[in-house]
Amino acid sequence: MLDSTKTESIPTYADLIAARFSRRAMLLGAAGAAAASAFTLRIPSAGAATTGSTLTFPELTKIYDETHHVAEGYNADILVRWGEAIIAGGKDLDAANQNAAEQAKQFGYNCDFIGYLPLPLGSDSSEHGLLCVNNEYPDPHIMFPGMTEDDAAKTMTPDQIKAIFQSWGHSIVEVKKEGGKWQIVKGGEFNRRITGTTEIAISGPAAGHKLLQTSADPTGTKVYGTGYNCSGGVTPWGTILTCEEGLSDTFGGDPAKATDPKLLERYGYDGSDFYGFARVEDRLQLDKEPNESNRFDWVVEIDPYAPNEAPVKRTALGRFGHEAATCVVSADGRVVVYTGDDDYFEYIYRFVSSAKFDPADRAANKNLLDDGTLSVAKFADDGTLSWIPLIHGQNGLTAENGFADQAEVLIKTRLAGDILGATKMDRPEDIEPNPVTGRVYAVMTKNKKRTPEEVDAANPRPDNQYGHILEMVPPGEGKNTEHTADTFKWDVFLLAGNPAKPEEGAKYNAGISANGWFAAPDNIAFDPKGRIWIASDGANDFDIADGLYGADTVGDGRALPRFFFACPTGAELCGPAFTPDGKTLFVSVQHPAENSENLDKLTTRWPDFGESLPRPSVVAITKQDGGEIGS
Ligand code: FEO
Ligand code: CA
Ligand code: CA
Ligand code: CA
Repeated sequence: MLDSTKTESIPTYADLIAARFSRRAMLLGAAGAAAASAFTLRIPSAGAATTGSTLTFPELTKIYDETHHVAEGYNADILVRWGEAIIAGGKDLDAANQNAAEQAKQFGYNCDFIGYLPLPLGSDSSEHGLLCVNNEYPDPHIMFPGMTEDDAAKTMTPDQIKAIFQSWGHSIVEVKKEGGKWQIVKGGEFNRRITGTTEIAISGPAAGHKLLQTSADPTGTKVYGTGYNCSGGVTPWGTILTCEEGLSDTFGGDPAKATDPKLLERYGYDGSDFYGFARVEDRLQLDKEPNESNRFDWVVEIDPYAPNEAPVKRTALGRFGHEAATCVVSADGRVVVYTGDDDYFEYIYRFVSSAKFDPADRAANKNLLDDGTLSVAKFADDGTLSWIPLIHGQNGLTAENGFADQAEVLIKTRLAGDILGATKMDRPEDIEPNPVTGRVYAVMTKNKKRTPEEVDAANPRPDNQYGHILEMVPPGEGKNTEHTADTFKWDVFLLAGNPAKPEEGAKYNAGISANGWFAAPDNIAFDPKGRIWIASDGANDFDIADGLYGADTVGDGRALPRFFFACPTGAELCGPAFTPDGKTLFVSVQHPAENSENLDKLTTRWPDFGESLPRPSVVAITKQDGGEIGS
C-alpha cells in the first residue's frame, strides 16, 4: 500500500514523459520540434493507413499461428536448422538418437545472434560469407520424450545432458547465394562448433587472477566452454563477440558453502542446475570449484576466419549478464563497445579502447579489447547521460569496499556499478549504434518488478510489461560521432505496448497502425539506410506473435514501426542481420513450440511439420524483385 504523502513526491508517469518529450524539441532542433509535436498518442483504428514511413512493404496483419509469415513481396526461406550436420563427417539429426558426438558436428539449438562475415576476409560480398550464430540454450522438454520443462533436469539421462551441452554455444557455417537462393556449405573449411566444453582463453586485466584459478586451471587463463550465448556483435576487424548472458542457473552445489556467497548472490548463482550440467561436470558444483563461476558471464571474441584459434574471453568488457556487445569506431579512431546487463534493474555499460583501430593491422586490432576503460551509464531526468568509469581506486572502488585491484572491479562489475550509483534499467537487451546517424539505441525489454516509487525518466513506467527503446545521443554525427565522450544526451525513442489500450501508456509515432505495435523488444539491427529493425521476445504474453518490425529513426516515419515478419507459436525472433548490400536479411527463429507441455502436446512442428521435431532455424529473407529489404 502506498503512503499518500510519499506518493505526492513521486513524479507521475505522465510528468516524466511530458518532460522527456518536451525536451526533445530542444535536442532535435526545428525538424525535431515538428516531429515531437506529432509525437502524441493517437488511438489507431484497425487497418489505419501508415503514412510517412520510408518502408514500402505492405504490413502483415497481427497473425499468430503455427508457421512463420513475411510481408507480401518477400521470400522467407529456411536456411539452416538445429541438427543439420555442418562439420565434415557429421550426420543430420536423428531425433531418437541424439548424442554428444553428433550434436558437436551439427548446427546448435536455439539460434540467437547472427553475424554475417563476407568471404573472403576483407571483401564485402553479399552472396558468400560465414554465418556466425549463437545457440543460446537447449529446450529438453521438446527435444526428448517423457519430460516437462520443470522436471527435465532431473529426468534426463547423463547421455542426454551431455548431448544438450554440445547443442549450445555458437555455430559457424559457410553460406552461399546461388541462383537467388541461399544455401549452407556442408563441411565448409571454416565451419565450426563452439560448445559447453570448447577450450577458451582468458585475456585482459583479470586473466590469471586468483579469483579465476581452479584446480583444473591453476593459471586462471584457460576455461572450458561458453554458454547462454545470447546476442553479440561484429568487430570492425571481422571477429565475432558472443555474449554470455549470465550462467547463474546452470551451476549446481550449495552456494552457501562456496567461498564468496555474497558475490554468488549478486550474480544470481543459486545452485539450481537447471539443465543438469553439474550432474555430469563436477567443476560446475559451486561448493566444489568455487572460482569456476567467475570464469563465466564474459564477452567472448571468436575469429571465424581462423578456425583453429581458441576463442578468447575478454575480461576488460566486464562480467555480468551481457546481452549484446556492439562495436563502433569513434571519431578519434578508438573502438567503443556498447553492452548491457539483461536482468531486472541492471545497468548499461560502455567500453572504450586505449589504442586506435588500424584498418591495416588486423593482428594488432585483435588485442584492442584487452586494454581500455569500462564505464557505466547514469541517466539524469534532464536528458543528460553520464558515463562513470570503473577504475580501481576511484569513486569508492577500493580495497576497503571489496575490490583489491582492477581485476576484481571487472570480476565483480555489478557490485562496482552499485557503488557508482548507475541507473537501474528495465532489463537492457540490445544496444546498437545507427551507422548512418551515429545515435545509439538501447532496448529495455520489460520489468514487471518496477514499483511506482522506482520510476525515473529513463524507465518511466511501473510494472513495465511492454518494454521501451531509448535513444542515446553522443556529440557529433555520422562518422564524426564522438562515442568516447564522457557525456551524451538521451531521449525516449518509443514506449512499447498496444496504443489502443491507453492504460498501457504506449508512445509511438501518431501514424502507427493497428498492426505496427509490439511488446518486449529485444534485438535490433540497422539496414544500410539507417532504419531500425526491432525483434520482439515475449509478445506471446499478449496473444500476438513475436516478430520483426521496421521503422525510420528520422523524418516523418520516426518511431513508426511496421510489422514485417511473424514467428510461429512459442518462438521469439532474434539476430536480425543484413548483408552489406541490404538485399538479404537473416533472422533466427528461436524456440518454436517452447510453449508446449511436452513432445506429446506440441503446439507446432515448425519448420518441417509432419513427424519432425520443432527445430529452431535461421531464415533468409529476400525481396522477390531482388531489391533492398524495405525499400
Ligand atoms: Fe537472451 Fe536477453 O535475451
Ligand atoms: Ca535476447
Ligand atoms: Ca543487434
Ligand atoms: Ca529476451
